[in-house]
Amino acid sequence: MSTASLDVASARAAFPALSDSYIYADNAGGSQCLGSVASRLTDYLLHTNVQLGADYSVSVASTKRVAEGVEAARKLLNAASVEEVAFGGSSSLVAENIARALEGDVLEGEEIIVTGEHETNAGPWKKLAARRGLTIKFWHATQYPESPNNTYAVGLRLETLLPLITAKTRLIAFTACSNILGSIVPVQEIVKAIKAKAKEVGVRKVETVVDCVAYAPHRRIDVQAWDVDYAFFSVYKVYGAHISVLYTKLDSLKTSLSPLTHHFLPYDLTSLKLQPGGPGYELVYSTTAVPDYFQSLTPAGTIEAAFAAIAQHEQTLLQPLLTYLKSKEGRGVRIVGDENAGLSRVPTVSFVVVGPQRLDSRAIVKIFDQAGNIGIRYGHFYAWTLIDSLQPKIDHDDSVVRISLVHYNTVQEVEKIIELLEKALA
Ligand SMILES: Cc1ncc(COP(=O)(O)O)c(C=O)c1O
Repeated sequence: MSTASLDVASARAAFPALSDSYIYADNAGGSQCLGSVASRLTDYLLHTNVQLGADYSVSVASTKRVAEGVEAARKLLNAASVEEVAFGGSSSLVAENIARALEGDVLEGEEIIVTGEHETNAGPWKKLAARRGLTIKFWHATQYPESPNNTYAVGLRLETLLPLITAKTRLIAFTACSNILGSIVPVQEIVKAIKAKAKEVGVRKVETVVDCVAYAPHRRIDVQAWDVDYAFFSVYKVYGAHISVLYTKLDSLKTSLSPLTHHFLPYDLTSLKLQPGGPGYELVYSTTAVPDYFQSLTPAGTIEAAFAAIAQHEQTLLQPLLTYLKSKEGRGVRIVGDENAGLSRVPTVSFVVVGPQRLDSRAIVKIFDQAGNIGIRYGHFYAWTLIDSLQPKIDHDDSVVRISLVHYNTVQEVEKIIELLEKALA
């Protein structure tokens, strides 16, 4: 099946913020918001802003709208049922909610494996382990053999995960894509391998929780094909408003989690048990515009086709950027992450400048800030442990320069970014 190409101009036209020449290149921090998301959000607040679940007509309308928002999130996750979908204020909050709800179903002495990626999918597990006497183990990103000359060319690899799994492993928490390295983790393959290893070593019960925040703007999430137990992403990074979506497999809802809600609410078999209080209803309803947007992007009208076109276009942004940065190796530029373009990578590109002509990441970003019409950023982006694991050491406060592009960025914008990099590295 051939992939329809993305009409970038019409994709951009859906975002009012992209009507001027500003270059948004900090999208892994937060994407621009669809005009249709803002319209639905406003419409909810102005016309259906009442409490849900009553029999009067406006409440019936608002209840229906919120249900449509849940269905939109189900579509984005490709979950089997809306019962498996909950919302929360942020991904950090929904991850903490899972950890709280799981507290009664872990045993002292069991083990949780986390990565050094964004702390959202590590912090709640470290705190749960401290509360309940579990051990934390780290699945660290390690150097790609194909990049022997760059110790910062690292990624999460299955062969380093498998030896960490023992009969005591209870939970494995990892990212579907790194918000610094840009590399995609093959979730389906990893979950399959985890289950096989768990069976081999005789694990009591193992579950997986996948942070899809840096993945969701670039690739189709498919919780059913992946066979994960928990997954979450932030809608404000997928062209929507500031709210997050949580997937919980029905089996885990039934057997692993205690409700976080009031004792008299009948939510025991739905993900609402992980949703204490109502999320912003207008935000939930506004999420309906996100799958509609993806479905409008290609003639096939499916989310799958949209992401295939997005992935293809994003490679045209990634390729020149990586090629340029690699050409500056002699100047001390080191890509932090996979050095090679390809579909296992998204255009989130991080680098440092080392050696005799070392440059602070903040000094490089300053050149961009001074240009005035472009947004990029430096820092550890909350993947503090990942930065800490890099050798030779990198100063946490300065960390890496990150340029993070998405499908609405253009090849011309990448050319401008390269011009500024040339100036910064002169
Ligand atoms: C990979 C990843 N996980 C989690 C988060 C946190 O998301 P939220 O701000 O919704 O808590 C971020 C935000 O940058 C992220 O990039």
